[in-house]
Amino acid sequence: MRTLIVGGTGCGGRALARTLTTAGHRVRVLARGQTGHPPLPTGADAVLVDRHDGLALAAALDDFCPDFVVDQIAYEGAEAETLRRALPSSVRRVVTVSSAVVYEGAPAARAGRSDAPHEEGDPLVGPGAPAFAQGKVAAEHAALEDPRAIVVRLGLLFGPGHPPLTPLGRAADLRGRLAAGEAVPVPADDPPRLQPLYAGDFAEIVLRLLDAPSFGPSPAVLNATGADTLDWPAWLRAWATAWGTPPPRVDPCTPAELARRAPPWLTRFLPALLAPPRLDTTRLRSFWPDWQPTPTVEAVRATVRADEAG
Ligand SMILES: NC(=O)c1ccc[n+]([C@@H]2O[C@H](COP(=O)([O-])OP(=O)(O)OC[C@H]3O[C@@H](n4cnc5c(N)ncnc54)[C@H](OP(=O)(O)O)[C@@H]3O)[C@@H](O)[C@H]2O)c1
Repeated sequence: MRTLIVGGTGCGGRALARTLTTAGHRVRVLARGQTGHPPLPTGADAVLVDRHDGLALAAALDDFCPDFVVDQIAYEGAEAETLRRALPSSVRRVVTVSSAVVYEGAPAARAGRSDAPHEEGDPLVGPGAPAFAQGKVAAEHAALEDPRAIVVRLGLLFGPGHPPLTPLGRAADLRGRLAAGEAVPVPADDPPRLQPLYAGDFAEIVLRLLDAPSFGPSPAVLNATGADTLDWPAWLRAWATAWGTPPPRVDPCTPAELARRAPPWLTRFLPALLAPPRLDTTRLRSFWPDWQPTPTVEAVRATVRADEAG
């Protein structure tokens, strides 16, 4: 099997390259060469291509003749469209990575629960939604025009190479701040709604999707989350435990306080960060009832170990 990963040297792509090569795939990753990364596993190589260069993208696909393609970084309709048009006939399946941000803000009320998580067929955001959410919806639509396509929607992806997420963005300095006893701002009175997915588990899901049977008449979309749904303090505790720092102190804030403390570049992502749409994973669990994602505490520990090993 030959699998090409578009954007394959980041957090998810690296885990995917490792899982696929272990499963016997020959893997080629495309990247621009701007993101530093450890050596690729045996059985994988990298080709420097900017996906926005349509000719170079098509040449890379033709040269490799993949059986499978994973689009790790489709953020716009035009990006997914360019890839779709360049797919060679050798390709049997394309997995496009998407995000929970595509779901319309107010969760669908089902079974009398106004906070019910989103199922794959729920309405998606439209005009007026943040541009990055609209871009992900457009990318999904463009990808799904190809009958070989599957879209996988994630909540929070984490793993080696990605600093941990906090309510004010990713924080490469979080370990030092926790060790110093600094209180981390978190939303006050916030229910558990973080659904972290460990990169290793993400990779396992994608591997299984490459061989998955047809989705039939249902949309070829799958929500994917990890083992737990957490609030921010529990997420921070998992990191503190893995680092051996004291139990984290938190500073409960109103949304307005968090917005005031957020760096300007984060402002447009803040609503999704503080109130991420929750994903229903009935479909994922029905596909592979025996498969268990890694418990978050264990996965964070593995992430820390891998980052410390470099
Ligand atoms: N992180 C989360 O919490 C989260 C949550 C929900 C969904 N997702 C989804 O997960 C995906 C991101 O995956 P990730 O975390 O593995 O990404 P990542 O860590 O940001 O890595 C991005 C990869 O793409 C490459 N790249 C970036 N721009 C490129 C371009 N123009 N042409 C070719 N390669 C390019 C980067 O390498 P170079 O810089 O060297 O090119 C790198 O290999 C996205 O689809 C996102 O919507 C993430």
